[in-house]
Amino acid sequence: MSADPHLSLKGLTKVYDGRVKAVDRVELDIQNGEFVTLVGPSGCGKSTTLRMLAGFIEPTSGSIEMDGRDITFLPPNKRDIGMVFQSIALFPHMTVAENISYGMKVADEKFSQSEIDDRVEEMLELVEMPETADRYPEQLSGGQQQRIGLARSLALRPEILLLDEPLSALDEKLREQMQTELTKIQQELGVTTVFVTHNQEEAMTMSDRIVIMNDGHFEQIGTPNQVYNDPKSTFVADFMGKSNLFAGTVTETGPDESVVTTDAGEFIVDDTSFRTRASVQILIRPEDLMMSRPSDSQADNTLTGTVTIVHLLGSVTRYYIQSEQAGQLIVEDQSGGQLATEGDSVQVFFDPSECCVIPDPEPPVETDVSEPAMGVYQSE
Ligand SMILES: Nc1ncnc2c1ncn2[C@@H]1O[C@H](COP(=O)(O)OP(=O)(O)OP(=O)(O)O)[C@@H](O)[C@H]1O
Ligand SMILES: [Mg+2]
Repeated sequence: MSADPHLSLKGLTKVYDGRVKAVDRVELDIQNGEFVTLVGPSGCGKSTTLRMLAGFIEPTSGSIEMDGRDITFLPPNKRDIGMVFQSIALFPHMTVAENISYGMKVADEKFSQSEIDDRVEEMLELVEMPETADRYPEQLSGGQQQRIGLARSLALRPEILLLDEPLSALDEKLREQMQTELTKIQQELGVTTVFVTHNQEEAMTMSDRIVIMNDGHFEQIGTPNQVYNDPKSTFVADFMGKSNLFAGTVTETGPDESVVTTDAGEFIVDDTSFRTRASVQILIRPEDLMMSRPSDSQADNTLTGTVTIVHLLGSVTRYYIQSEQAGQLIVEDQSGGQLATEGDSVQVFFDPSECCVIPDPEPPVETDVSEPAMGVYQSE
């Protein structure tokens, strides 16, 4: 990971109309060939970030570097960046071939007609749509139009590809197919990619790293595994999937385990990085919460409840459980069988190593100043 980054965002900031802080001092180094995905709620600044990278919007402050060269104020056509916009925008009056070759025709670099024809053919092969060169966009399905949009953005063989929700208009099946194709094309070309999506699963399956954006800032950056299993905030935990969360306070710390006291009882966790009295949330993903028939044994980390809903989701069965101590819990089971039906009394439990302890976002105000600050998270 010591290689120089391909693309660097340094304190990148955009304030619209002097008051809307759309992007707020974000920092990111992207390696050559990496696939990085921005996720986050509507309006958090994803498109604004991409548009600054592409050169369509000037940052208010901060800078963008490509291979160490400052490109912050370089016009879009001088950046060697291809972009697919959030709304598909093929030129309706141009054929597929004309759409794909548009960039080559207006580029500074001069291309001969045979070079253009060859490149169009190559791009159509890449997106697996040969023999559509003479069609017009209205003669294509939505998914095919998106593929041509992708072909158009790749025709100039950009070093960097920016994709703003390119799959959002597709139905689920086509979307999955395009996810696979896009990943394949990206790897074949080795093009550094920044992708935007609302879809958490899409982000998880396609990315080398995921950036979770919240209100203009980067809340967490990590591999899919890191942001899913080791979120640093409840915002990230909730955004990256279903969660069982218990708010509590660290009441004991030992060499290997800590005790967190919550409204639902005491839980043993194997995270020892928090101080006593720290306010925390325990996160257990639904697949890490196990379920069985009630028993009299007083095992650690066990809660009781009643199954209220069972959802068969194909390979996974999801159980919603109402617990007297903890409210609603979600268990997901992949064993294939049905563990319980609606109305059954059950117990649910988890292993101390299968949970994640998250610092509370707003620790209560400390009244005793001689005590260490509450909720201090010591990472690494
Ligand atoms: N041209 C503009 N002028 C003023 N405000 C803008 C402009 N473009 C975007 N904004 C505001 O900046 C913020 C970020 O917008 P942006 O389009 O980057 O969000 P996004 O994360 O892409 O959202 P979505 O998921 O809905 O596409 C929003 O509050 C938006 O209203
Ligand atoms: Mg957007």
